[in-house]
Amino acid sequence: MPSVASIVARSYPDQIIGIENELPWHLGTDLQLFKKRTQGHAVIMGRKTFESIGRPLPNRKNIILSRSEPEYLNEYKDLVWAPNPTTAFLLADMASIISGKMEFFVIGGEQIYKTFHSYLNRIFVTDVFCGPINGDAKFEVDFDSKTRGTKSEWIIDDEEEFPKSEKDEFPFRITEYRRRVPYHRYRVKEELMGRAPDIDSYWEQYELKLHQLEEDAGEQLDFFR
Ligand SMILES: NC(=O)c1ccc[n+]([C@@H]2O[C@H](COP(=O)([O-])OP(=O)(O)OC[C@H]3O[C@@H](n4cnc5c(N)ncnc54)[C@H](OP(=O)(O)O)[C@@H]3O)[C@@H](O)[C@H]2O)c1
Repeated sequence: MPSVASIVARSYPDQIIGIENELPWHLGTDLQLFKKRTQGHAVIMGRKTFESIGRPLPNRKNIILSRSEPEYLNEYKDLVWAPNPTTAFLLADMASIISGKMEFFVIGGEQIYKTFHSYLNRIFVTDVFCGPINGDAKFEVDFDSKTRGTKSEWIIDDEEEFPKSEKDEFPFRITEYRRRVPYHRYRVKEELMGRAPDIDSYWEQYELKLHQLEEDAGEQLDFFR
């Protein structure tokens, strides 16, 4: 199944990501990079984060996690609702397969980052050098934590510093972490090809395309050729 990635901006060193359901800063360059990385992919977010953004992110399948169906669900074409993380995974897998993407993104907030953390293989972390700030949401991940005693669980693939600028209220650094031992997810074919119980309302959107993919793939169902 597609790999799971995440993107987060947090204050350094306090790890604050939000206050009163808003971002504590404006970083235009960081937002542009977020857009570039996530465009065309499925994104999973919590109901509070969706409401803080106020609309679906364009050119992305927006999957919103909420225990009850959001009343505005049908107002937007690219918004789908998942009542639990299992359904969010299924919807993100289907959307990724249909669009030929090998990765989808978990984009917050605090609750959702925690829920999906153990499945993430890649995380883009923006450390914002804003000094001490007030906040009520955090992203508390220690990227130096060790697995099997000696090696850290995360490897740094890339790191870049950005100065304060007209577009960016504070200087920041973006680090791309990769999980040393990737988490692989598998599904039996029938899980995707058969009608899954939680997603009835989305099924029509997917059914045709999945069967087309199966026809094209023949015996070997290889989604990412
Ligand atoms: N700096 C960043 O990179 C960044 C990124 C994203 C968000 N943020 C910030 O993070 C803050 C929001 O974080 P948050 O933790 O308060 O909220 P959140 O994670 O965005 O959303 C929480 C909501 O998600 C739903 N949910 C959570 N677990 C679920 C589950 N297992 N099954 C079904 N639904 C589930 C619930 O919705 P219902 O109550 O509707 O059931 C819950 O209230 C905001 O301040 C935002 O600005 C920062």
